[in-house]
Amino acid sequence: MKIIFLGAPGAGKGTQAAIVSQKLSIPTISTGEIIRESVRNETPLGKTAKELIEKGELVPDNLVIELVRNRISQDDCKNGFILDGFPRTIEQAKALSEMGVDIDAVVNIFVSDADIIRRMGGRRTCSKCSATYHTLYNPSAKGECCEKCGEKLSVRADDSPETVKKRLEVYHRQTQPLEDYYNDLGKLVTVVGQEKLEDTTRLTLEALKVND
Ligand code: AP5
Repeated sequence: MKIIFLGAPGAGKGTQAAIVSQKLSIPTISTGEIIRESVRNETPLGKTAKELIEKGELVPDNLVIELVRNRISQDDCKNGFILDGFPRTIEQAKALSEMGVDIDAVVNIFVSDADIIRRMGGRRTCSKCSATYHTLYNPSAKGECCEKCGEKLSVRADDSPETVKKRLEVYHRQTQPLEDYYNDLGKLVTVVGQEKLEDTTRLTLEALKVND
């Protein structure tokens, strides 16, 4: 299957993508993760992206499109993949279609802005294996360390309240038009994000017609 996870920053795309990826044995491609890794490794992409990410703005379309084009041509994507955080603009969606990618479903996770702002303060991430936790809703069994690899957990540079507000504004202006774009193509399914992760997972699997 080829699936896109759409939704505002912090709606739970990465969390659900990780579960569906394991269930369907297909990789998740998170453009945000790849860009953050490029920033850590100080690659040319990372150098361009660093300031934009920290301000809550999008990285230029051409750079992200090339990144995805290369990634989906790799062997592990032959049987399908999940795109988490791509496309984020109409231009990116058109480029994906021009790559000949036939998407099976676009899962739009809806969470209100107020709930997102409340949630983001508690997110903790592992910079080594990319696992995501929440201090209240999804704590690591190892407290302040990652339960998968033991690395110390951290707060993402773009999770400060001002940057989250800016990311939401960018989302509504540049990414939300994709809901109509994919709805018109008959691909959009909307899942209302729930208080409990497992409830959102159940609704996501139902929307994808995948057995729990
Ligand atoms: P990216 O990394 O994609 O960030 P995002 O879209 O803002 O999404 P997040 O990763 O913040 O949130 P999420 O929806 O995955 O939520 P999560 O599962 O972590 O992009 C970062 C930046 O990179 C962008 O701002 C941009 O600059 C750049 N970029 C990336 N892609 C790009 C592109 N295509 N074009 C241009 N630029 C691009 O959940 C959030 C928290 O809530 C976690 O703590 C989680 O544990 C918790 N949680 C999840 N579900 C629930 C629930 N049901 N109940 C309670 N808590 C929950």
